[in-house]
Amino acid sequence: MDFADDVRSGLSAPQKRLLPKYLYDDLGSALFDAITALPEYYLTNAEAEILRDHAGEIIDAVGYPVELIELGSGSAVKTRHLIDAAFVRQQTLRFCPIDISSAALDASAKALRREYPRIVVDGINAEYLSGIARLSRNGARCRLALFLGSNIGNFEPDEARSTLSALRSVLDPGDGFLLGADLKKDARTLEAAYDDPTGVTAAFSRNLLGRINRELGGRFDLSTFQHTARYNAAASRIEIRLVSTIEQDVAIDHVGIVAHFDAGEPIYTESSYKFDDASISSLAVAAGFAVTGRWTDASERFADYLLTAQS
Ligand code: TRP
Repeated sequence: MDFADDVRSGLSAPQKRLLPKYLYDDLGSALFDAITALPEYYLTNAEAEILRDHAGEIIDAVGYPVELIELGSGSAVKTRHLIDAAFVRQQTLRFCPIDISSAALDASAKALRREYPRIVVDGINAEYLSGIARLSRNGARCRLALFLGSNIGNFEPDEARSTLSALRSVLDPGDGFLLGADLKKDARTLEAAYDDPTGVTAAFSRNLLGRINRELGGRFDLSTFQHTARYNAAASRIEIRLVSTIEQDVAIDHVGIVAHFDAGEPIYTESSYKFDDASISSLAVAAGFAVTGRWTDASERFADYLLTAQS
């Protein structure tokens, strides 16, 4: 399925939906980078604090020389704490980032090579699953795969399990997997993180419609869609939608459809699941990992879990 097929089926369904992976074109990746600088989006700073304070312990727990793999690395700012800790313990380091934005991947590889002359960056421009399938082993004693920023939360539970299982199948027993997870908390804090007063997250969200206009001949008027973020405590997830504020028909020329919207009708764009130790542990165990480490920020908003591949 490509973008056009996914848009056709998603907007023709009785409950309209668009897949979150399409949020990250080059503009979307840049807007997401801006989200990580928002005070309301505490996730990035909380995880940066964890990695700043505990990167050495994490590398020691996995063992070294280590090779790093990162799923959805973006600009890899937080990853630098782990890279620094690795270089304290070894001479060279191979880093394999997997990202669907080629612009983000190229910019990040260039910056890393400039900052770390002895790093080898083997970037893979792909979606997670096909990127994981392309990973090769290169003689490192240990590997540490990174899935930071609570990206795990954007998967539905069955997709989370299958992605972790796919990753487990390319790792050897004893290899590590550092999994970032946003922890369950009060609805107000969570909702502000996904609907900030500056409007950056709304722009990030609406860019999905802008991308349909640019790439698929869509005729969306972005100003008629409102970004909403609600915490569904029973399902432990933030639910992100774009809601049509008026009744309208929107043609998407290259897809050959006209989508009808009632006033107030939503397009569901993304879930962001929130976790606790029990939910992470059951996910890990189902995919062949054991939880062998856990670090949180001082206010316990976010956690990085070290999972170890079991034989
Ligand atoms: N991985 C991010 C998260 O769940 C993605 C994200 C942050 C996001 N803000 C968003 C996705 C707003 C859609 C809309 O925290």
